[in-house]
Amino acid sequence: MSTEYDLRTPPPRSATDPRPDPVLALMARVTPFLLRQSARRKRREPVPVDRSLRLVVTEVRHEAEDVVSLRFAAADGGPLPGWHPGAHLDLDLPSGRRRQYSLCGDPTDLTTYRIAVRRIEKGDGGSREIHEQLSAGAELRAHGPRNAFAYAPGGACLFIAGGIGITPILPMVQAAAAMGADWRLVYTGRSRATLPFLDEIDAIETAGGAPARVTVRTDDADGVPTPDLLLAGAGPGTSVYFCGPPPLIAALRDAFPATGATGLHFERFSAAPVVDGTPFEIRLGPDGPVLPVPADRSALSVLAEQRPETGYSCRQGFCGTCRLPVLTGEVAHAGSVAARRSDTNMLICVSRSATSGGRITLDV
Ligand code: FES
Repeated sequence: MSTEYDLRTPPPRSATDPRPDPVLALMARVTPFLLRQSARRKRREPVPVDRSLRLVVTEVRHEAEDVVSLRFAAADGGPLPGWHPGAHLDLDLPSGRRRQYSLCGDPTDLTTYRIAVRRIEKGDGGSREIHEQLSAGAELRAHGPRNAFAYAPGGACLFIAGGIGITPILPMVQAAAAMGADWRLVYTGRSRATLPFLDEIDAIETAGGAPARVTVRTDDADGVPTPDLLLAGAGPGTSVYFCGPPPLIAALRDAFPATGATGLHFERFSAAPVVDGTPFEIRLGPDGPVLPVPADRSALSVLAEQRPETGYSCRQGFCGTCRLPVLTGEVAHAGSVAARRSDTNMLICVSRSATSGGRITLDV
């Protein structure tokens, strides 16, 4: 036989002592409080951390053919938030475009940030805007730094950079060299004239006094490299870090398993191609125009063409910058949970209509 007690009415100490049991009496008092706290914690939405900064351009430098670097300081003259190799900043450009650039300066220097930008003539206009409109003294808002391409020191490293993809790789190489790690860098591009920071890379290699760790391969002198050539020497125990154009990422991912290397870490500097997409439509507001989204394009690229101020950053579904409210239509969500997908909004860089030919009305 068992006796059940309501916790709100603690049982007596014993058959002969009618006073409430002290331990159970204490539990009766604190349990409702703990349950309320727990329910509140569950209900509480994560609060986004505002990491916006006012920056001022302190220097613009020509680094290579069509490549400039920009240095920024805090507009209030204070120290900047720290960062680690692989981190990037989101910059709000004067036009309202938001674009993402890897930090390529010295992480121990909290007085300046440095980025480098290659001018893409047929791009979406962000790089042209930077090249044409930003000069020393310009102020702009930035967000971050954030890191989706972190370098984890330890073990041998093979760094591979394709052209402007050197920007996140350079601080990693500097960190690896400073720690005396076993590292190599393969730096590839069309020609030496197009490759920024060759002098800084030479200086790192020379300072180490070690056998040649850097291989510069250019298409004009060496031909277009194969993935096997780029991955040569990456065996068990080696981590590979790569930043470059999407076709090269795809080729390296295919070739990587045969190397037996420990891990392939990569970052794209442009959107991944749309694979296996189907066409659909987006309507801009309940009474707005309807735009067709072809099978091989994203809703973001179509919308940004109409509205260049459309916000985006990673174009890979992890940052959440492009998220827009959805009024009607069924969405096939893509992207990471970290970008907080929900039925009432859509990451327009990677999500599409759930049905081929379907229409999604966005609240824009
Ligand atoms: S641009 Fe980053 S999630 Fe779409």
